[in-house]
Amino acid sequence: MDDKAKLPVTIAISGAAGQISYSLLFRLIAGDLLGPHQPIVLRLLEVPQAIGQLEGVAMELEDFASPILVGLSCHSDPLEAFKAVDLAFLVGARPRGPGMERGDLLEVNAEIFAEQGRALNAVAKRSVKVLVVGNPVNTNTLIAIRNAPDLDASQFSGMTRLDHNRAVSLLARASQRPCTSVEGVIIWGNHSTSQYPDVHHATINGRPALECVGKDFEASFIETVRRRGAEVIRVRGKSSAASGAHAALCQMRDWLRGTPKGSWTSMAVVSDGSYGITQGLVFSFPVETHDGHWRIVEGLALDAASAALIKASESELLQERDLVRHLIDLP
Ligand code: NAD
Ligand code: LMR
Repeated sequence: MDDKAKLPVTIAISGAAGQISYSLLFRLIAGDLLGPHQPIVLRLLEVPQAIGQLEGVAMELEDFASPILVGLSCHSDPLEAFKAVDLAFLVGARPRGPGMERGDLLEVNAEIFAEQGRALNAVAKRSVKVLVVGNPVNTNTLIAIRNAPDLDASQFSGMTRLDHNRAVSLLARASQRPCTSVEGVIIWGNHSTSQYPDVHHATINGRPALECVGKDFEASFIETVRRRGAEVIRVRGKSSAASGAHAALCQMRDWLRGTPKGSWTSMAVVSDGSYGITQGLVFSFPVETHDGHWRIVEGLALDAASAALIKASESELLQERDLVRHLIDLP
């Protein structure tokens, strides 16, 4: 098919004047998600107070002279921003500062995802795919799902790809191998310090990762991945931005195009009860993707220590769920 005949893909980005979007938007119009020949329309959503700043970002997007950007608009109403969108990146939310846990953001951010879930339910394309980035990401994803009853829960995922990428990079550096040689890492659970970065199924150049890096590496591996977001805030003074934007592109790209045969990635998705995780909870699992659909990888063996760590993260998510009952227990 002639590339010029391709229909544009419409993409909404909330929090479009924020720091993650300042990286994400320019990667999108460079073709890093859908390739250099797929036209895209961008719908940028911000709070009214940030619309001025957003218009400045829009000017820079225009000045890129991207051959694939065929439409651009700024909005403060999600019902306008999400109208007939194919893809939505829900980035807009307050980030944490030094000394905070991501769960501390629940009170300020949860409402955003209820409103945006309702708006997506009302006006987005029925096939929309929604990637939630704003923290605390698992529970925000749950809130969005529950407020969008006409969409399928499988059309939503929460971003744990940054943790996954951190784990891959850490193993690659420890073994002095390229990141492409690392397979089979899993992030289980919450995007919080209770997550379980699991190295037991990981391989480096086809060899069990723990044989390559030594058994003693595991404890520091888990703690480093769990605390990396806080460490970036401590050292940089702000939370991760470019690495977050890159992870969002990686997660959406794998979702749309599929994971390579025999490999998986980590995504926070609605639980179907796999691995004993409470049905309906949004939990990070190993997932395979194919033809725009994800599927939890079943049947991986878990030792007792791994199972206990996974359960601990589930408990934290159940507590978070209890705190937002008023937003998810809909009539
Ligand atoms: P930021 O403060 O730079 O930008 C957030 C933007 O969202 C701001 O411009 C703000 O005006 C906007 N916003 C707030 N409420 C909104 C609403 N209701 N509708 C639309 N826009 C709204 O923050 P950031 O660094 O870009 O981070 C955004 C979120 O992503 C934070 O919650 C952060 O903790 C989270 N994050 C998650 C991951 C992850 O791995 N899941 C990684 C990095 C950051
Ligand atoms: C991250 O993991 O870098 C983000 O979730 C930001 C944070 O608060 O740690």
